Amino acid sequence: MNQDIIALQKQYLTYLEQNPFTGNPPNLYDSMNYILSLGGKKVRPLLVLLGNQSGKGKIDDALPLAHMIEVFHNFSLVHDDIMDHADVRRGQPTVHKKWDEPTAILSGDNLLVKTIELWRKYNGKNTLVILDCYLKTATEVCEGQQKDMDFAMVSRPVSEDEYLEMIRQKTAVLLGAALKVGFLSTNSNPEHADTFYDFAIQTGMSFQMMDDYLDSFGDGEQTGKKQGGDILEGKNTWLKIKSHEINDTKTRELFSLQGQERIDAVVSFWKEINLDQQIRERAQNYFNNSMADLDQIRKWGYDTTLLASLSEWLLGRTN
Ligand code: IPE
Ligand code: IPE
Ligand code: MG
Ligand code: MG
Ligand code: MG
Repeated sequence: MNQDIIALQKQYLTYLEQNPFTGNPPNLYDSMNYILSLGGKKVRPLLVLLGNQSGKGKIDDALPLAHMIEVFHNFSLVHDDIMDHADVRRGQPTVHKKWDEPTAILSGDNLLVKTIELWRKYNGKNTLVILDCYLKTATEVCEGQQKDMDFAMVSRPVSEDEYLEMIRQKTAVLLGAALKVGFLSTNSNPEHADTFYDFAIQTGMSFQMMDDYLDSFGDGEQTGKKQGGDILEGKNTWLKIKSHEINDTKTRELFSLQGQERIDAVVSFWKEINLDQQIRERAQNYFNNSMADLDQIRKWGYDTTLLASLSEWLLGRTN
């Protein structure tokens, strides 16, 4: 990965280490610090810092916002793992497995509250515009997560467009907001903010399609999650939607199998009908859209090197 990106990531990690959550009872705070300490790619705080750097801002202004967005992301993961019955995250037991479900619910709740405290620590430009952007985004994530759950339960077919809107809400908007609030923390022209936002939305669409790809075709050792989890949960990913379109009878038959047998049969069928390649091509299309936004951003005179290399890294990732 690009050295300048690694340096920014380090700055955030130092801030994270220096700002643990404290309070009582200890199990509540331990579980909050636990999820944040497990690593992860830290893509969203990086986007905040890259937005700040793009607008030639002061990094110290952006750090509380970077943390706000990463803490929100971790809140959503703690609750997501309860909802998705996931036992492993970042290669370690999930919060509801290591503690219990009530602790994981409260840990997530309190992480969400802490995001607003972090916004209060922010002293730079556009404070209320940033809050509005964050609040709108947080609600969209909840809406997307509700759709994700609903789509796994419905008996009617889910359309590709419904899926794309669902992943825009549950995933892409948070990447969009991360870059946008970072950019708004500077003196730059606010009229440019929406193109930065769209760049991160396109990156986020590609990102979630790669997440779905890796869930079925990746290596659990590298992703730190259970391989095939989406198949077990009956998630209506792009892969499952296409599978029904291509051969509904066979898809239903394979999904009536249980456990590892289902995972193995579905994965090999999807490879047979080339869905592993096709989903990567779709992710690549969103990546191309993100590059088109960067062309515009470059014309305005911004240095887009790091944004381009972040997007490339995410497209080729294995974790
Ligand atoms: C996982 O996000 C949840 C999704 C929105 C796909 P990441 O893949 O960014 O997870 P970490 O933070 O790197 O663990
Ligand atoms: C999660 O999507 C999106 C959010 C947490 C908002 P997934 O359920 O696919 O994420 P992973 O695969 O568990 O990380
Ligand atoms: Mg989920
Ligand atoms: Mg999940
Ligand atoms: Mg996933």
